[in-house]
Amino acid sequence: MTDHIIVEQPSAYPGVQSIRFNRPEKKNAITRAMYRTMADALNAANTSPNIRATAFLGTEGCFSAGNDLNDFLAAAMGGRGLEQEILDFLYALVNSEKPVVSGVDGLAVGIGTTIHLHCDLTIASSRSQFRTPFVDLALVPEAGSSLLAPRLMGHQRAFALLAAGEAFSAEEAKEAGLVWKVVEPGEVDALTLGLAAKLAAKPPEALRIARDLIRGDRGEIIARIDEEARYFSARLKSAEARAAFEAFMRR
Ligand code: COA
Repeated sequence: MTDHIIVEQPSAYPGVQSIRFNRPEKKNAITRAMYRTMADALNAANTSPNIRATAFLGTEGCFSAGNDLNDFLAAAMGGRGLEQEILDFLYALVNSEKPVVSGVDGLAVGIGTTIHLHCDLTIASSRSQFRTPFVDLALVPEAGSSLLAPRLMGHQRAFALLAAGEAFSAEEAKEAGLVWKVVEPGEVDALTLGLAAKLAAKPPEALRIARDLIRGDRGEIIARIDEEARYFSARLKSAEARAAFEAFMRR
């Protein structure tokens, strides 16, 4: 458990579990403990009759700056690959049997962007920005994004996002299909939780089948996550990745 992730079932939104990034002083950068807490919450939702939808939220002006680069540096220095906590979180996300929505206000970097490829509905404030500097960090795309993004937005936009590291505004992310609706900053949390509550009120079995049909083969996504992770792990140990992490720490 870590208080950098707040897991709640807000009474105003019946049937909803919210998972909120709560490490604003570090731009909600995600540590191994945070991945573990989120994986546990997603897995618990599958078996809890009281939870019918999960909503990911951030803090004011920041969804998440992605993986904690200190953890990446530690893995690089220790000669370790991608940590198991990250993979367990991704597996839990893909294997979620109930709808997952997300609400973004502001910064969404790295997995703070690719997480939405796994969400069923994403709301973003007009000031949001989506960016994945994987290649600039000498890394490769993760979270199944190399499979899901080109499918969703076509090769050019996926390449711009995942390989060229171009930032997408909220409107561009919406146009690319990564975001469902763009709203005002102060509206994100209530609208996201409201959406989740609406889904939570639907006949659960029909919704589960509909969602499975729409999402398609989970095995294919897991296989791509594993393939990406093999490259990612090797890249983490590379001298150029270590240099990139150290450069960030020195800023
Ligand atoms: N890992 C660890 N710490 C991070 C972090 C990350 N991914 N992102 C931000 N932080 C920390 C900063 O080190 C800083 O800590 P400090 O106050 O102790 O120095 C604090 O969060 C605030 O960040 P700062 O860079 O000062 O804020 P900013 O508004 O100027 O810039 C970002 C915000 C997100 C653009 C910038 O922090 C950044 O580029 N972060 C790295 C993003 C990244 O590469 N993520 C990994 C993707 S795979």
